[in-house]
Amino acid sequence: PQVCWLSPEQTAGKQKPYMYTQGQAVLNRSFFPCFDTPSVKFTYSATVKVPEGFTAVMSATSWEKQKDNTFVFRMSQPIPSYLIALVVGDIVSADVGPRSRVWAEPCLIEAAKKEYDGVIEEFLVVGEKLFGPYVWGRYDILFMPPSFPFGGMENPCLTFVTPCLLAGDRSLVDVIIHEISHSWFGNLVTNATWGEFWLNEGFTMYAQRRISTEVYGLPYTCLEAATGRALLRQHMDATGEDHPLNKLRVVIEPGFCLFLGVNPDDTYNETPYEKGYCFVSYLAHLVGNQSKFDAFLQAYVNRFKFQSITADDTLGFFLEYFPELKEKGVDSIPGFEFDRWLNTPGWPPYLPDLSPGQQLMRPADELAELWAADGLNMEAIEAVDITGWRTYQLVYFLDRVLQKSPLPEGNVKRLSKMYPKISTSQNAELRLRWCQIILKNNLEAEYSKVKDFLHSQGKQKYTLPLYRAMWGGSEAARALAMETFSATAPQLHVNVQNYVKKILGLGGAE
Ligand code: BES
Ligand code: ZN
Repeated sequence: PQVCWLSPEQTAGKQKPYMYTQGQAVLNRSFFPCFDTPSVKFTYSATVKVPEGFTAVMSATSWEKQKDNTFVFRMSQPIPSYLIALVVGDIVSADVGPRSRVWAEPCLIEAAKKEYDGVIEEFLVVGEKLFGPYVWGRYDILFMPPSFPFGGMENPCLTFVTPCLLAGDRSLVDVIIHEISHSWFGNLVTNATWGEFWLNEGFTMYAQRRISTEVYGLPYTCLEAATGRALLRQHMDATGEDHPLNKLRVVIEPGFCLFLGVNPDDTYNETPYEKGYCFVSYLAHLVGNQSKFDAFLQAYVNRFKFQSITADDTLGFFLEYFPELKEKGVDSIPGFEFDRWLNTPGWPPYLPDLSPGQQLMRPADELAELWAADGLNMEAIEAVDITGWRTYQLVYFLDRVLQKSPLPEGNVKRLSKMYPKISTSQNAELRLRWCQIILKNNLEAEYSKVKDFLHSQGKQKYTLPLYRAMWGGSEAARALAMETFSATAPQLHVNVQNYVKKILGLGGAE
């Protein structure tokens, strides 16, 4: 399942085949022999010979092209098996900073360069200021074919990203900041087991939002965090708060056959990300001073760099670093026990204050309210000018509309007409929400947009929510799901295929 072989039709350029690997969580064991656990770290080197007209790239600190289309790679820092990655394709590169270039198929390289020229270095510099030296040498970005199942994958030295990030306006750059943040949290300090995936993702969400706050300010970052909280709400509503995967510390079990047990890949949901973010924010809240907590994060990275650790190591170090908090017994405040954070499923006991984002959220909240009303107050609606809204303000607005859906008959149709900026947007985050609204309101006239979106890309976090919505909807929506899946299945990553099969009751294994 780990080595994905794409036909020319599955690439952006449609001229040449492509292959890529995706190691996380436990797929690299089908790529090369290894101790395929994040608790073991090693260096590696690789010699890769490719056909004429192809280029190979890997997550390596150095590489050189030798004769006969042979590439030699070396990763000189110890990394866990899941971070080894290889791509072979018709790809080219362009510089976007002193230690960064973008890689993409030739037809996308100009858009790729334009999207991130001159912005990556600032994120790296802010990251280094906050969390300590960037030890990986280069930070390059590879734009993957449309079926790549993730927004981004933090392969060291060479982040892989979905081409959906090419929005033309840098509006989805938070994904890049996220993957850069893994350079410290995840790639340097690594969760020792996938059962504590939140150590990678929760700390990375926190680091991402720290960098974002420094670069874009607190209001914007709180707005982005509010959309994350909405995703956590949707996830917990869909799975039930008490679901065993809605704990930060998850039990991974092999099970007795394909259909039992918990696969580490199942932990890829909003809980380790957003509940993890809340727990790290709670630790910061206990400290009560941002610069002191920043200093702790830097000391934490320095203490555990190149190691794999458990949450007990993290929390033990926290209490050791702040002896006055240990003295006060902050690990056992009723309702907020560290043990409860780790082992009890459900909504986070503490939520960070996102009110600095109110200035951006309030207009969106109010507009969603107007659109959910029975008799539409068009005068009030027309008085709101959304032309200047940032993408995440629109995302937040659409999430509010979705939450209030189904809207009274006819409202969504009017909304669609009124804001072509939204309903015909090519921005993937907006398209996802618009498709969700179409399905929740059963707007059959716009079903083709759902179909087109699912044909255009294969990101897991876009694909699964839409199939869940279709399958939970009308007969027509279910038919749309079946039709779309049978047409697109061969293009989807095998993991995503299996998850969709499970949603559609087609006997997909988990
Ligand atoms: N490491 C993850 C992607 C991943 C998780 C791959 C689990 C395989 C198994 C990556 O850093 C990530 O979190 N990507 C997010 C980006 C977002 C949170 C900004 C994604 O792809 O959605
Ligand atoms: Zn991540």
